[in-house]
Amino acid sequence: MTLAKRLSLRDALLGRRSFRLFAPDPVPAELVREILEAARWAPSPHHTQPWRFVVVTDAAWQRRLAEEMGHRWELDLRADGAADEEVAGRVGRSHQRIMGAPALVVCCISMRDMHVYPDAVRQRAEHLMASQSLGAAIENVLLAAHERGLATGWICAPLFCPEIACAALELPGDWEPQALVLVGYPPRDVLLPPRVKPELLVEFR
Ligand SMILES: Cc1cc2nc3c(=O)[nH]c(=O)nc-3n(C[C@H](O)[C@H](O)[C@H](O)COP(=O)(O)O)c2cc1C
Repeated sequence: MTLAKRLSLRDALLGRRSFRLFAPDPVPAELVREILEAARWAPSPHHTQPWRFVVVTDAAWQRRLAEEMGHRWELDLRADGAADEEVAGRVGRSHQRIMGAPALVVCCISMRDMHVYPDAVRQRAEHLMASQSLGAAIENVLLAAHERGLATGWICAPLFCPEIACAALELPGDWEPQALVLVGYPPRDVLLPPRVKPELLVEFR
């Protein structure tokens, strides 16, 4: 792996932020390839490396994904009883965010090499382990992007409609989309959201 050593680990951890808006500049494909290289070094259950990634930079695919997930969200919001104005606002903002990113990385798991159990409890745990491992891989990608001056935003939408995202991008049947990472360059100023105090997160016994 050839990650450039520009930031200390501490600087990378403390400096990474979530972005929902990006500068219009395109992101070179080589840079996306480099940040995804960082995913391969994440821990995984039984060393199965169950992560799969789809890079979307073509506007037609990007629109197809945004629209199809948006239609599904609209149906869910209407079923929840949301008013027309609220549905249009939330779905519209989500569409703009996805279309406004110069590159998307759809982050998936594959259960192909994971263990198969006859009972639902262990099978659920196995699936959860793959998801946890994907979370670790995604964080690696976010930090590698930050190290290269790229801005990223983690979007949960595919987790709520994996089959829609899978069909929209014509993915292999065993790929389960679980997250979307928006990738671009930071627009301008970066707001730092407050963090929870360590004493509220950690207990010692
Ligand atoms: C599993 C997960 C799902 C997330 N989904 C979304 C999302 O759908 N939309 C969004 O704007 N941010 C999403 N985020 C980003 C969080 O809102 C963000 O990490 C949090 O506000 C802290 O900000 P920071 O990342 O700049 O430290 C998600 C983060 C995680 C870990």
